[in-house]
Amino acid sequence: MIHKCLFPAAGYGTRFLPATKVLPKEMLPILDKPLIQYGVEEAMEAGIRTMAMVTGRGKRALEDHFDVNYELEHQIRGSSKEGLLTGIRRIIDECTFSYTRQIEMKGLGHAILTGETLIGREEAFAVLLADDLCEGRDTGVLAQMVELYKRFECSIVAIEEVPMADIHKYGVIAGEEIEPGIFRINNMIEKPAADQAPSNLAIIGRYILTPDIFDILRETPPGTSGEIQITDALRVQADQGRVIGYKFQGQRFDCGSPSGFVAATNHFYHLSRR
Ligand code: UTP
Repeated sequence: MIHKCLFPAAGYGTRFLPATKVLPKEMLPILDKPLIQYGVEEAMEAGIRTMAMVTGRGKRALEDHFDVNYELEHQIRGSSKEGLLTGIRRIIDECTFSYTRQIEMKGLGHAILTGETLIGREEAFAVLLADDLCEGRDTGVLAQMVELYKRFECSIVAIEEVPMADIHKYGVIAGEEIEPGIFRINNMIEKPAADQAPSNLAIIGRYILTPDIFDILRETPPGTSGEIQITDALRVQADQGRVIGYKFQGQRFDCGSPSGFVAATNHFYHLSRR
């Protein structure tokens, strides 16, 4: 139903400097796996096999990660370490990857618009921000959203309750709860002050977007912090009742910040020891 996933991965990752001076944020590992690989695995769990990445200067490690390293494979063939590459090898065999570069970092909305050339205009697509690492309760978060898309056939954003002290970091929704955890969104504001926020429901880095979003993004002027915001474009769809907010089942770690990164590392370390 959803065949393609877009990974906007061009941001500078300034919250993680100096680590991200040369290393793409998406290549930071949680245990032994880079964030972007967790993201691709989540997309695969949702049945997606076409991965489209929006990268930028200094992000070539992303392309190399999803390619075969023959020298390395030759080196470890037959050794006890060979199995360590099985997971990534399966991804490379089963998926196709394409890349385009965002030349100027003009925001998430602009990054998604840059991905139009990879995604096309035929069908709805997923968007996954790999620095938001999600662990679904029974199934992956994107897989949950694909199920919802089958019912509603409109754009879907994953939402989460966040403390009001943090609300200014997020896009925030207002809407009517039409079923437990499912909201028909009627307003959304990017990075509001706590006293302007329409709720404590924040959008996190998982979206399903209908392709008319590209035309809307083209018309969307720069908003908060001079960037083209996906939240502003989604508000146009929300005005027509065409955006669902979904309180996903599971847990999210904001691995774009050191505290979220440490929490994720601890969480997955304890899981791996069970
Ligand atoms: P962030 O707000 O986390 O920005 O972007 P950032 O630059 O990556 O990190 P900080 O805040 O400087 O530490 C959210 C997502 O949107 C992508 C980022 O790569 C990240 O996945 N993005 C953002 C782009 O691809 N292009 C942009 O111009 C902005």
